[in-house]
Amino acid sequence: MCGIVGYIGNELAAPILLDGLSKLEYRGYDSAGLAVRDGDKTIEIVKAKGRLKELKEKTDGGMALKGSCGIGHTRWATHGEPSTENAHPHHSDDNAVVLVHNGIIENYQFLRDKLVKNGYSFYSQTDTEVATKLIDYYYKKYKGGPVEAMARSMMRIRGSYALAIMFKDYPGEIFATRRDSPMIIGVEGDAAYLASDVPAILKYTRSVYYIDNMEIARLGKGTVRFCTVDQEPIEKQPVQITWDAESAERAGFEHFMIKEIHEQPRVVTDTINSLVREGRVDLSEAGISEEMLRSFSQVHIVACGSAYHVGVVTQYVMEDLARIPVRVDIASEFRYRRPLLTPDSLVIIISQSGETADSLAALREAKSQGVQTLAIVNVVGSSIAREADHVIYTYAGPEIAVATTKAYSTQLIVGYLVSIELAHARGQIDDGEYGRLLTELRTIPEKIERVIEDKERIQWFAAKFSNAREAFFIGRGIDYAISLEGSLKMKEISYVHSEAYAAGELKHGTISLIENGTLVIGILTQEALYEKMISNMAECKSRGAYLMGITNYGNYNTEDTADFTVYIPKTDPHFTASLAVIPLQLLGYYLSITKGLDVDKPRNLAKSVTVE
Ligand code: M6R
Repeated sequence: MCGIVGYIGNELAAPILLDGLSKLEYRGYDSAGLAVRDGDKTIEIVKAKGRLKELKEKTDGGMALKGSCGIGHTRWATHGEPSTENAHPHHSDDNAVVLVHNGIIENYQFLRDKLVKNGYSFYSQTDTEVATKLIDYYYKKYKGGPVEAMARSMMRIRGSYALAIMFKDYPGEIFATRRDSPMIIGVEGDAAYLASDVPAILKYTRSVYYIDNMEIARLGKGTVRFCTVDQEPIEKQPVQITWDAESAERAGFEHFMIKEIHEQPRVVTDTINSLVREGRVDLSEAGISEEMLRSFSQVHIVACGSAYHVGVVTQYVMEDLARIPVRVDIASEFRYRRPLLTPDSLVIIISQSGETADSLAALREAKSQGVQTLAIVNVVGSSIAREADHVIYTYAGPEIAVATTKAYSTQLIVGYLVSIELAHARGQIDDGEYGRLLTELRTIPEKIERVIEDKERIQWFAAKFSNAREAFFIGRGIDYAISLEGSLKMKEISYVHSEAYAAGELKHGTISLIENGTLVIGILTQEALYEKMISNMAECKSRGAYLMGITNYGNYNTEDTADFTVYIPKTDPHFTASLAVIPLQLLGYYLSITKGLDVDKPRNLAKSVTVE
């Protein structure tokens, strides 16, 4: 959690740092701060509780801070409440060390006690202040310079961190390191930048260095040098970022979420194109061959949140097509339940950010058991992408809204394609069926477009139910998996309590909650289960529920039961999640804005969950 930035060059640093932080607010937004230095003058620190705009106002958009070298931070609280004291940057008593941090230092209490014994005192409740003073301690004790002090501290710190540090005695430099928290570095002309994520510096450079775990970087004006923790120099080549700056902005839409909903036809096409060539699924870039696919006898899918819901859809699709046992796990459960993985298992980790702490730990658990791991990831160069044996990238581009939409849709596509290829490799589908499925998949982007075009009806419905206090989402099979995602969308951005239920399970207890006016949303895209779904919805209606149905064009008698029906284009039953999820994304979005909520940055959440 948290976003960090750094700049050193010839321009005024503070406005550049504030601009970078504005692109990282999705990582946390309870307080923010800057440390800026003018030549070898004192390092000036300004912090503000609340959104970044508070800091902007306090610093006159950054113009109040003189100096062309600085670091900045936007915070999502872990240790210590959101407050000015706990906001970053943190500093040692004489400002010898000034630091911003993203991550969690697990042994901070132990380190803090040690430092107290050595005469240190603390002004905040944060683990970050402990890291700052630990570096200060080694810096002053051994007098070996910044890199040595950092290296000694890194050996003592347990946990995750990305650190950007200014040392009072080194006015022309910023020092940085990371372990299990993201950081990228860019150099352009006379300037050098660092950030937690690419959009923060895309405006200034497209040439980006990925710093690996336990490496140290030293940034100067237009330069960066890397070394290991043993101070051995490392040669690195920059990676060229191909995203256009526009795609990291709102492009005229009112919110990132609605912009990202509209981007789905394009990013789904891009993802299909990246994996389907000349009518065949090509997983060779991920190092996956047909022979390898044939060697697996079971699949485990592990993820969190919406990515987990993609896993649930994929389980239904993969088991049905490839006839292979698939188990789906929530990453935070998988990592601690000592999972039993046979040597012929494939573990698939799904993650938009590639930095989710629980998913990363689950990946490491799988690797420690020696099984093959495949990551389905959106952010290139992220920790999960780097550590997995095989990686398939989704082509969603930067996703800014906290509530995922386009990343979810592209993850579904990869789930379908891996399932189809696995089914073919295992001889479960012949060439004809293989071709038919791929041809049908090509129609999905245009069908998504058609569902989005119908958005005004959902907007109307959201306005009608803006006072709803609870909702139930029900479905069977893949429709149950879609219900999970619809329910999460409603909860996380419109703060309406909702539950997703397997429709057949409702009568085993939960149906007692249905009363006059309770909103029940039934998903009915699986023709084979349609009649059973209608019966389950009728059971709710007879207890007073108001029914919304989402079904395929043609199923017009749904209107005999449902009070409000949304139709989606027909497709193969394995792919209906890609279409049925769209009205549910729109429903969450419109409910949120009808209620006047901050749809892109819902309360208590952050885009990238890099803590347990
Ligand atoms: O970056 P990841 O895909 O690993 O993130 C997983 C979840 O935190 C994420 O899907 C979360 O549930 C979304 N906010 C849901 O919209």
